[in-house]
Amino acid sequence: PAPGWTVTYDVVIVGSGIAGLTAALRLKDKVGRILVVTKSVLNAGSTQWAQGGIAAALGPGDTPEQHEHDTLVAGAGACDEAAVRVLVTDGPAAVRELIGLGTNFDHTSAGDLSLTREGGHHRDRIAHAGGDATGAEIQRALEAAVQAAPEIEVIEHALAVDLLLDEHGAVAGLTLHVMGEGQIDGVGAAHCRAVVLASGGLGQVFSQTTNPSVATGDGTALALRAGATVRDLEFVQFHPTVMYLGPDSRGQQPLISEAVRGEGAFLVDFEGNRFMQGVHELADLAPRDVVAKAITRRMHETGRPHMWLDARHLGDPQEGRTASEASDGSGDRAASEASTSRFWGKRFPTILATCRSYGVDPVTELIPVAPACHYASGGVATDLWGRTSVPGLYATGEVACSGVHGANRLASNSLLEGLVFSRRISDVLPGELGGFTPPAADRRTPSLVTGDLRNELEELMTDRVGVLRSAEGLAEAGERLAKLAERTTDVVDQAAWEASNLLTISAAMTEAAARREETRGSHWRDDFPDRDDARFAGHFDAHLLDGRL
Ligand code: SIN
Repeated sequence: PAPGWTVTYDVVIVGSGIAGLTAALRLKDKVGRILVVTKSVLNAGSTQWAQGGIAAALGPGDTPEQHEHDTLVAGAGACDEAAVRVLVTDGPAAVRELIGLGTNFDHTSAGDLSLTREGGHHRDRIAHAGGDATGAEIQRALEAAVQAAPEIEVIEHALAVDLLLDEHGAVAGLTLHVMGEGQIDGVGAAHCRAVVLASGGLGQVFSQTTNPSVATGDGTALALRAGATVRDLEFVQFHPTVMYLGPDSRGQQPLISEAVRGEGAFLVDFEGNRFMQGVHELADLAPRDVVAKAITRRMHETGRPHMWLDARHLGDPQEGRTASEASDGSGDRAASEASTSRFWGKRFPTILATCRSYGVDPVTELIPVAPACHYASGGVATDLWGRTSVPGLYATGEVACSGVHGANRLASNSLLEGLVFSRRISDVLPGELGGFTPPAADRRTPSLVTGDLRNELEELMTDRVGVLRSAEGLAEAGERLAKLAERTTDVVDQAAWEASNLLTISAAMTEAAARREETRGSHWRDDFPDRDDARFAGHFDAHLLDGRL
């Protein structure tokens, strides 16, 4: 439909998590009118759900160089080293800025910032808040600051549909579908001089994900349709320890933070074997692709739908007891349980409540876990200042790909990425703003598909483009996705936009996964089980997918 209304702002920011709100706050004194649009309410995105924390070299003895080393190792040779250096070097100041804004991180009894460890880190460098509610606390602090800033306007329930480009291919605005009951409603246009994409991830491509329901890859799809370069879409990270709720459970699943393993929990199979031992020098705290693969492998070997996380000893002075010792009545079991319960209540209150709400008490019982989609390491390609290949379009946070994550993001580098690169965008964007220009061709998506194909799409992507991939499975996925694209509709609503966006990025991801004939990081090919450095060096550019698929 033709836009029914038009609004005008200097800069439109799409998304309201750590990346979007940081960009808004940092730009507010530097450019004119700023609009933040968000598809649901301000805190509906992934930031709110982040548990473990935010990584930065803040502790005694830690350095950006050590953080850089761990990030590069996790990224399995596919990181952009300059981008990683920026991330780890800007990181400590960026986190201190968050603290200055009023974010209440946890502290030790001595008054120091409490820092924990997660997979792939060789140092305690994860700052956390409310025990395991880090994202919610950051979101709270950022929202409070945005609400106190009259320069920033917010429209909730506004889906960013497509970019409007001028005759030179630069950003002239974007179309929005507002699903509210306010003064503007339905499809309209926002004219602007620059757009900052901070729209988050795409976890809903798969049947089970830690991502909230809004994570339908809208930003990446929009960028693809505008001809922006995307990269590394094949590197989708599966979090190893997501609570298993049964074979029919779909959509967002409860995350059991890596920080639980950071505090000493370990994985066991149905016989009680600690199968991570001997797999990697860091055992249960190996980088998450290693742990996810080991769990998947053990699930396949044993024909079980999940494995178990044992966290019944956390905070117990008798730590190290085995499952059988813990249940044979020996020792002061009641005292141990009480101290474990206190520990859980203080350190992981959110996870404790969630587990109990599903009938599992982690103080006394094993937690059923299986890998589920967690994070898109790839996305809209950017330089070190968040610039994309489309003039006037910037990207930051999970939707962006500066190359910091390579083939596998290091734990707790995601909040940091949004924070650091939004700050950098705010440093360059004001000096790069062009004038307002009229939009040229209508680049909106030509046809929408019906929302009811989502289940089929998600199952297909989980089966064929999930943790384990092969040429055959990817080819089948490509064919079946093309068939799904024929299921068009004239109904223009959120369900149709989201299904269309999911289909667009599924096709791009499948193509990217088919092109990468090797196993690296979170990309695991059955038919090419080895990492192939020679091939990778020669083929890097092939993974900068042309937006026009
Ligand atoms: C977690 O808490 O395990 C997730 C942290 C992350 O994804 O970086």
